[in-house]
Amino acid sequence: MNRTRIVAGNWKMNKSYEEGRDLAKAIAENLQPSETVVVLAPPFIHLRGVAAIAEGVSNLHVAAQNCHQENSGAYTGEISAPMVRSTGAEYVILGHSERRQYFGEDGPLLADKVKAALAAGLKPIFCCGEPLEIREAGAHVALVVEQLEASVFDLSPEDFAKVVIAYEPVWAIGTGRTASPEQAQDMHKEIRDAIAKKYGRDLAQQTSILYGGSCKASNAPELFSQPDVDGGLIGGASLDTKEFMAIIGSFPA
Ligand code: PGA
Repeated sequence: MNRTRIVAGNWKMNKSYEEGRDLAKAIAENLQPSETVVVLAPPFIHLRGVAAIAEGVSNLHVAAQNCHQENSGAYTGEISAPMVRSTGAEYVILGHSERRQYFGEDGPLLADKVKAALAAGLKPIFCCGEPLEIREAGAHVALVVEQLEASVFDLSPEDFAKVVIAYEPVWAIGTGRTASPEQAQDMHKEIRDAIAKKYGRDLAQQTSILYGGSCKASNAPELFSQPDVDGGLIGGASLDTKEFMAIIGSFPA
């Protein structure tokens, strides 16, 4: 089964408008045509500019890092899924652990955001992952399956087929401490098994599951060679063109 390989760069709250354009242009210029889908997730203000840069590059796509669950209304400071889609962005990251931790986003809210994104024609990159104390207690698989059940497992199979899953252990995000290839593979397999149980084997085999958490050029080849790791969601290392390009080139032949 050939699943879509995806490398997504989550810029988080980094880069001025000019710096963002420069980074996107450098990536667009260096990207070789290939089957690997590359997604740039800049802050909202960059979306239109980066989407315009990505337009001429067949395997370069754009994501927002979040969206509101309502389509429009009196929600000062918020951005809706249809607004994101209107910029040319095709994806939206939802449920990132920083959104869960600092902005109180929980399973039911994320379920609403996922539905709003799909209704607007966006593909959700849905993040799940456990904090350190949960892993140490041996409850990581149960927690991640709970996160999926709370926010994406009530979708129709047609809608679920548009979702990309990103497994990001919280203890590995921005810490320099990466999950070992075995830890990543074990969890990705658990996630795929949970999807198979809910939606059947075929859909589970088609779902791209990305690893995120201190993934960089030096460890990406080993992570991406695991059978159930279909790419990465890259934070810090996506802000450097050379490093990010090397990660994109890290899949086994
Ligand atoms: P990191 O972040 O690569 O800087 O650890 C990953 C993420 O939060 O998506």
